[in-house]
Amino acid sequence: MCGIVGYVGPRESEAILLSGLARLEYRGYDSAGIAVIDADGDLGLRKRAGKLSVLREDLDAHPLPAGTTGIGHTRWATHGGPTDVNAHPHLADHEQLAVIHNGIIENYAQIKDELVSEGYSFLSETDTEVAAVLLGREFRAHGEDLVAAFRATVKRLDGAFTLLALHREQPHLVVGARRNSPLVIGLGEGENFLGSDVAAFVEYTRNALAIGQDQIVAITPEAVTVTDFDGNPVEVEPFEVTWDAAAAEKGGWSSFMAKEVSEEPEAVGNTIRGRVRDGVVSIPELDGLDDLFREINRIVIIAAGTAAYAGQVGKYALEEWTRIPVDVELAHEFRYRNPILDERTLVVSISQSGETMDTLMAVKYAVERGARTLSICNTQGATIPRESDAIVYTHAGPEVAVASTKAFVAQITAIYLLALHVAAVRGALTATEVAQHVLELEAVPEKIQQILDREQEHIEQFAHWMADTRSVLFLGRHVGFPIALEGALKLKEISYIHAEGFAAGELKHGPIALIEPGQPVFVIVPSPRESPVLHSKVVSNIREVHARGARVVAIAEEGDAAVLPISDEVLRIPLAGPLFEPLLAVVPLHIFAMALATAKGLDVDQPRNLAKSVTVE
Ligand code: M6R
Repeated sequence: MCGIVGYVGPRESEAILLSGLARLEYRGYDSAGIAVIDADGDLGLRKRAGKLSVLREDLDAHPLPAGTTGIGHTRWATHGGPTDVNAHPHLADHEQLAVIHNGIIENYAQIKDELVSEGYSFLSETDTEVAAVLLGREFRAHGEDLVAAFRATVKRLDGAFTLLALHREQPHLVVGARRNSPLVIGLGEGENFLGSDVAAFVEYTRNALAIGQDQIVAITPEAVTVTDFDGNPVEVEPFEVTWDAAAAEKGGWSSFMAKEVSEEPEAVGNTIRGRVRDGVVSIPELDGLDDLFREINRIVIIAAGTAAYAGQVGKYALEEWTRIPVDVELAHEFRYRNPILDERTLVVSISQSGETMDTLMAVKYAVERGARTLSICNTQGATIPRESDAIVYTHAGPEVAVASTKAFVAQITAIYLLALHVAAVRGALTATEVAQHVLELEAVPEKIQQILDREQEHIEQFAHWMADTRSVLFLGRHVGFPIALEGALKLKEISYIHAEGFAAGELKHGPIALIEPGQPVFVIVPSPRESPVLHSKVVSNIREVHARGARVVAIAEEGDAAVLPISDEVLRIPLAGPLFEPLLAVVPLHIFAMALATAKGLDVDQPRNLAKSVTVE
């Protein structure tokens, strides 16, 4: 949600802001705008409801004077609808000051009342304009010093925010602040950048700084200064972005989602790389934590959406291999129910973006309650890892499509590595057992590639004839259950078709009433060789729905003949151990959701109403 870019330097800022905003489009937005200080020191503003292309057309038709300092924003509406007026930047101090914002300022109404009583007026319905007007007042009260005014302003604000501001009286300065909302700094030569994430500036620099909570940053072409909200200097953590701008481009694919599904083998492979050697798991980020892993007696996984389904898959492996009890909780439920936590609980958060507000708040809550925290995250410089005791990065590369695909398989891979490491440390698995599992994990990328090569066309064909389908059900048992949930979520979010995932064992407890002739039902079938008992139960479930006229699509192991007479379509996955099947079975479901949405003529990358990164509660 909301993308933020800031620039100071020698180049024309408009192009830099627009390209940064284009790279942040994936976050989801409904209006866009920029503010630029031109060579004469005047402040130019343009903002438009709709896609970035609308803003671009407007700028082409009525160019702004060129300038080298600027801020840009894509807005996902919260306070006030997606209109030109509510779009950011917002102006204040007689149109000399511009502000952009991501997050929600909870006490904006009180501050607005105060400002209105002092004679200030407002154009928009946003909480952001309140911050802008307050900053304008403080600018005058603090000797026309934008940084001092910014400090005074942010201290008044409650809630979550990233704010950026510039003022025409200090034309080579952009000031930013963050609280529970993302902001990273890009370091250039004679130029500096700010962005919601590194995608905003990776085209220009891969040298970045991650700033912490409740910190303020001031960038000029030559300097970057970071302080806390009281003005005390703070240490900032430099990092190098591990991917280049090309990684965040479509590169000839029809959509980012198509590209990202095709990258699932690499996402798994890159997450394993450098963390296993000769059958031993060694995760450098976890050095020094062996005592912690010996002491814990419980693991709680917190996440939202697809990341939570990865957590559900992870629970099976963690419990199987480490014998530590694991609970998986939706982050947004977790902290509102007084969960039992102590220093022997390890709370593992999973988040592709590392910015999901619900997950972030749950991590903070866990820290306050004395639990130990570890985050599994795909985004360098993101907030959640910074709030956690330890981090295991997934190396899926930038994920741009709203629907999470390659990050999902990378998240499961990272949990498996963690589980094998903890199991080895605790002696819950022998070295030989760990080595066997490592071997299986290392074989996964190749097996995913086989599915992509063999099944894509077949899936696209039957997805085409299913374009008018109104509802699809997904069934799975054991690790197949979270995969059923993931298949249903993916279909809902990008094809807008009603879809439900069920534990196959629940069928006769209710869901079977939904089956009528023609109802499509996807079934994730366990391996007959590896899990004969589960296999026969799922085959019985298929019989039950098939007998009632369901159109069955079975995702089954190569050679499984039992599904043939009772399925309308069979999608084959290579042989794998029970815990490794989910990494394979999910791939046809990702392809199917994408193929069906494409057949319906929908935008698979930016589905309606959704944002890639849910940075508000
Ligand atoms: O960035 P996160 O992994 O924390 O995001 C969590 C969910 O918002 C995300 O997985 C969402 O469910 C996806 N759009 C699903 O495809």
